[in-house]
Amino acid sequence: MADPKILLINNNSEITTYLKAKMAAQGQASISFFAEHNGPAGIETFKTTAFDLVIIKLDMPYFDAAETVAQLRKVDPDVVIIALIEQDDPVLIKTNLQLGIYDFISLPIDDRKLDFLVKKGIDLHTMSLAHRKLQHSIREQNLSLQKQNTLLAKRIEDSTKNLTRLYEDLRSTYMRTIRALAQAIDARDHYTHSHSQNVAKYATLISEEMHLSAKDIELIREACELHDLGKIGIQDNILIKPAELNKEEWELMKRHPLTGAQILEPLTFLHGVIELIRQHHEHFDGSGYPDGLKGEEISLGARIIHLADAYEAMTSARSYRKIPLTKEAAVREIEKHNGTQFDPKVVECFLRIVDKI
Ligand SMILES: [Fe+2]
Ligand SMILES: [Fe+2]
Repeated sequence: MADPKILLINNNSEITTYLKAKMAAQGQASISFFAEHNGPAGIETFKTTAFDLVIIKLDMPYFDAAETVAQLRKVDPDVVIIALIEQDDPVLIKTNLQLGIYDFISLPIDDRKLDFLVKKGIDLHTMSLAHRKLQHSIREQNLSLQKQNTLLAKRIEDSTKNLTRLYEDLRSTYMRTIRALAQAIDARDHYTHSHSQNVAKYATLISEEMHLSAKDIELIREACELHDLGKIGIQDNILIKPAELNKEEWELMKRHPLTGAQILEPLTFLHGVIELIRQHHEHFDGSGYPDGLKGEEISLGARIIHLADAYEAMTSARSYRKIPLTKEAAVREIEKHNGTQFDPKVVECFLRIVDKI
């Protein structure tokens, strides 16, 4: 630390000489001592040098203590000021304490008190400066942290957006690939080439009639497009057999909901779709496959797909039945199995939209 500097503002040269001598005599020789005769001159000097302590004699002619203290504080908010007063006057001390004067020494000067106050005042100023520096550095660090936080938040936001976009891209690429695969399966049998798309169309109409959410309808539509994917594992001689299937062939055919679900299982984003595919041949009364679920155990989406699938199968030609059922005959079949194979709520909505098909 550099040598401490004291500024004395005092119009009495005897006091100036006395204070200089006293401080030197009491081991304060390293202190640089500056003296000015009045307030304005003291303020000007204070502006040019960094002082550790200011001693002011209060009772000087034309001296405005409040103004002088305010000006000194403007230059150094931590300035430590000791006031010299003619005598201990409690009222004067109280008034000047409120101005921000640190302590008082009355005349004649008590050397020990002077020595003590000078040391304490210098220490206080040093500590105040250190404190201010620390506060400044904390403020700077906070600002820098805030900046970093903002930057980081922005980066996270950008990364999240990128990831979301990438995820959507990946999902739609997957969907296109699987859809192409499902269409290829439909196309193995020229009778069923647009089966999945038709099922999707009918199921969407029923779902809308049931006031399902757009999200649920989209899920059902996706499941329809892939619902017979599991037929990939069935040989052509069974899949496009121009006659009714025998018992063993039928058992193989019945595996397709499970096979489809198993193929898609690694694609976690298709979780909801997979469930609908697995359940699309379950019957409302529990007589369906592969799990024999009944009633509300079966997802509503799967109950809808099941009806749309059955209606599509009945009203289009098949390798084992070249002439499709008429719309009226298919509707009669569905009504016949209302409550057993099909969910009555789904049938009710289907009957309201069947004319749109
Ligand atoms: Fe199926
Ligand atoms: Fe189907």
